[in-house]
Amino acid sequence: MSERSPKRLVTLISGTGSNLQAILNALDAGRIRARMAGVVSSRPDAPGLDKARAAGVATVIAENDGALDAALDELAPDVIALAGFMRVLGADLVHRFAGCIFNVHPALLPKYRGLDTHRRAIENGDAMHGCSVHFVTEALDAGPVVMQARVAVCADDTPETLAARVLSREHAIYPLVLSWYCDGRLQMHEGRCVLDGKTLEAPVLLEDEA
Ligand code: GAR
Repeated sequence: MSERSPKRLVTLISGTGSNLQAILNALDAGRIRARMAGVVSSRPDAPGLDKARAAGVATVIAENDGALDAALDELAPDVIALAGFMRVLGADLVHRFAGCIFNVHPALLPKYRGLDTHRRAIENGDAMHGCSVHFVTEALDAGPVVMQARVAVCADDTPETLAARVLSREHAIYPLVLSWYCDGRLQMHEGRCVLDGKTLEAPVLLEDEA
């Protein structure tokens, strides 16, 4: 009896790549049963590209939709992880990989879709902020949310200090969600998350930060 080959994971980045690094670490430690088939960057100067190269992962620069399509044709992913990818995916691509694309977003969705999430949370006087991992659908930051981690907002927080604490939670929840998917435990079905055969009524919450 032969074991099924590990899923081919492709990560899309535009910047620092700290989530990419967290995923690479989890793969290395055997916490995600998959293989990083490639890293695609929308920017040629993204520092995350060096993290991919250091891990011996193939890198591709794709600055427009056509190049991204071609890169994904070549890399043939089973699962795609958007990790600080600052371009909106085209509808065709989302449909082609429906149920196989994840994103990490620095807010407790459905709050604060889009950009500048930390500043908006502070300006609104929110007591709690956080991050979400969700399936990608056509509408921006609106796909079903699998998991969230909450972070308390401190009185003296700046967008930068808050972002740093949220980012560390992103690094905890993103690899976990990807591991569930790669183990066949997680699916998107009729626009909802199904984990271990049960439809999630609400996102799974990582234990609150102390
Ligand atoms: C992360 O905070 C991620 O949630 C955010 O960009 C940062 C990328 O950091 N993504 C978005 O805002 C997408 N809407 P990283 O490059 O260090 O992983």
